[in-house]
Amino acid sequence: MTDEKVLIGVIGGSGLYHLDNLTLVKHVNPKTPWGFPSSPIAICALPSGKQVAFLARHGVGHTIHPSTVPSRANISALKSLGVRAVLAFSAVGSLREEISPGSFVLPTQIIDRTKGVRPASFFEDTSIVAHASFGDPFSNKFVTWLENRVKKALDAEGRDVKLFTEKCIVCMEGPQFSTRAESLMYRQWGGDLINMSALPEAKLAREAELSYALVATSTDYDAWRPDEGTVTAAEVFKTLTQNANTSRRVAATILDDIHEAFAADGGDMLEEVGRMKLSIMPR
Ligand code: ADE
Repeated sequence: MTDEKVLIGVIGGSGLYHLDNLTLVKHVNPKTPWGFPSSPIAICALPSGKQVAFLARHGVGHTIHPSTVPSRANISALKSLGVRAVLAFSAVGSLREEISPGSFVLPTQIIDRTKGVRPASFFEDTSIVAHASFGDPFSNKFVTWLENRVKKALDAEGRDVKLFTEKCIVCMEGPQFSTRAESLMYRQWGGDLINMSALPEAKLAREAELSYALVATSTDYDAWRPDEGTVTAAEVFKTLTQNANTSRRVAATILDDIHEAFAADGGDMLEEVGRMKLSIMPR
């Protein structure tokens, strides 16, 4: 491995614990002021030789609950490697009929239904008062740039994996899934998807001035369909492995291009990050 910075970080969610279709270079486990990340970070080589960092959000053996993911350590550890952009994957429930299990989604909005138990800022318990803009919680330029590339990679699967864009994800506190009433309410609020892991990760990526996009992979219909049973873990697991395998292939197909897009200093994508800078309140 050269000392070249690793520009792109990939965070894998439930089912996606490695990118073993890339060449493993080494594992690193940076200690951050917020402790160690969820798992050692795998530095993987792309076909071009460029390197990316892969981190399993729930640990490689899925031992970390959504409510206790050390998101500050995860984002901080990736940043310490030189990462500028994070491509995050996450299993989600669907709140819309058309987003069937197995579909992929690039959301552009989030509704926060976590309950304040997750540290959501690097500045908590410090005397630094900082504000980041979060009206567009994902990096829109990055998301738009991803649309065609992800679509092409999904088409190559040859089994009609749908891709949806411009959707709103509700991030809830688990570990229990939603009640039917909550699920119906989220639909009325305009939610299209639901998961337990998009936050505070996206907030922390913004504070760390990283580009951040989420590839949401649908596993179930949540609890809103009147004639269907409510969501169970068994139902989620059914689609999880296939979604994870697809995610691995999508990542391998597009990561070289993402690397190139973020490597050019002053490139379009970086300019967006520059506009979203964190403001520290003057004293
Ligand atoms: N992750 C996958 N499916 C989910 C659901 N229905 N609710 C919350 N998180 C999920």
